[in-house]
Amino acid sequence: MADPTQPDSPAVVAKIYRLYRDYFDRAEKKRRWSLQYDIPWDQCNRALDPAIADVVQTFCSVEMYLPDYLSKLLPQVRGNRGRAWMLANWGYEESKHSMALGDWLLRSDMRSEEQMADLETQVFQQEWDLPYDNAKAMVIYTTVQELATWLHYYNLRQIIGERGDPALCKVLSLIAIDERAHYDFFRKVVQIYLEDDRPGTLEQLRRVLNTFAMPAVHLLVDGRQRTEAVKSLRIFDYDIFYYKVFEPITVALGVTKSELRRRSAREIMVVGSSP
Ligand SMILES: [Fe+2]
Ligand SMILES: [Fe+2]
Repeated sequence: MADPTQPDSPAVVAKIYRLYRDYFDRAEKKRRWSLQYDIPWDQCNRALDPAIADVVQTFCSVEMYLPDYLSKLLPQVRGNRGRAWMLANWGYEESKHSMALGDWLLRSDMRSEEQMADLETQVFQQEWDLPYDNAKAMVIYTTVQELATWLHYYNLRQIIGERGDPALCKVLSLIAIDERAHYDFFRKVVQIYLEDDRPGTLEQLRRVLNTFAMPAVHLLVDGRQRTEAVKSLRIFDYDIFYYKVFEPITVALGVTKSELRRRSAREIMVVGSSP
């Protein structure tokens, strides 16, 4: 079992770079969209339930921690070109998400310019830190987070429906497509790690899946309230996480529940108890 803090082997680095080139080529050909031209901004619904705007603000805030995500994730992978270049491209795509959500909050008159400026100040008063200490655990975390994020956007879009707000619906569709592509890329990276070092990757997978929490929500001043709002609209809760995120990821990775339960000798030594 390889030490997860050590650099990846040249073979793994080469595989991930090939994966990235494929991801990038597809994104350039099929997935680029314009904030300015692809969203029917004249069709914002100013009479939409304010609870929806609250949820959009939550998503926008979480997306706004981008400088922390990038500045902390990049140093972990600077020697791995596929992973580092992906972060650069991922950062570009993610930067559009908070802008699109913020633009909708403004154009729908749900928030004023002043409120958005306050939100920005409030977000940057807190700093997001890496929840795990190595790049392998972090790519697993990102995989889980991307699928969970896709589900948040997908479920919110279902609640609003095409006619509820054509502008927001389009924003959510475009973002959801990006999030799904992110999930797909990161999951394939985890698959490469599993093929290369199954016991070591499983150890990190167990750590992450057993302690997963969405990023940055707890950093928001009213984080608990915001989590409750998301739960009450049934956009995301524990059951949704279990059946729509945890199970599909384990199936897609070809990992069994018993493998996720079993502790490695190293973990047992750390925890100091029998499995
Ligand atoms: Fe995003
Ligand atoms: Fe994403």
